[in-house]
Amino acid sequence: MADAPKVRSDALLEAARRVRENAYAPYSGFRVGAALETESGSVHVGANVENASYGATVCAERAAVAGMIAAGDRRIKRIAVYAEGPTLAMPCGMCRQVLSEFGLDAAVIVGGPAGSRTTTLAALLPEPFVLEVKP
Ligand code: THU
Repeated sequence: MADAPKVRSDALLEAARRVRENAYAPYSGFRVGAALETESGSVHVGANVENASYGATVCAERAAVAGMIAAGDRRIKRIAVYAEGPTLAMPCGMCRQVLSEFGLDAAVIVGGPAGSRTTTLAALLPEPFVLEVKP
């Protein structure tokens, strides 16, 4: 039998909901929280960080990836994203590409006040760009 996950997906979504409170989103007013669980069982969180130069904005998912890398982790098992809007906030294309570098098999749990749904990164990004690094 497969090992039971160390963090249940609803706990991961709750962590994303909580960190969303710290988002810096004065321009859009749209706050997003992300919590990812690594294969080692650690959880790293991130929130969106907007900027007066709009293009410099960092999404919640990529903020969580930065925390994971800084902590020395590399493999994402699942990621939960929480936002509050009329529809579920699916990870943007840039975040899908960044996440794919660290776990194409990762489960993606997207939630909001009305509920959540679970998919996989492979389903969200069927043909990621991969760069074969020469030794
Ligand atoms: N945003 C995220 O944090 N994650 C996404 O995957 C899509 C968009 C943020 C960026 C910006 O601060 C706000 O949502 C509105 O686009």
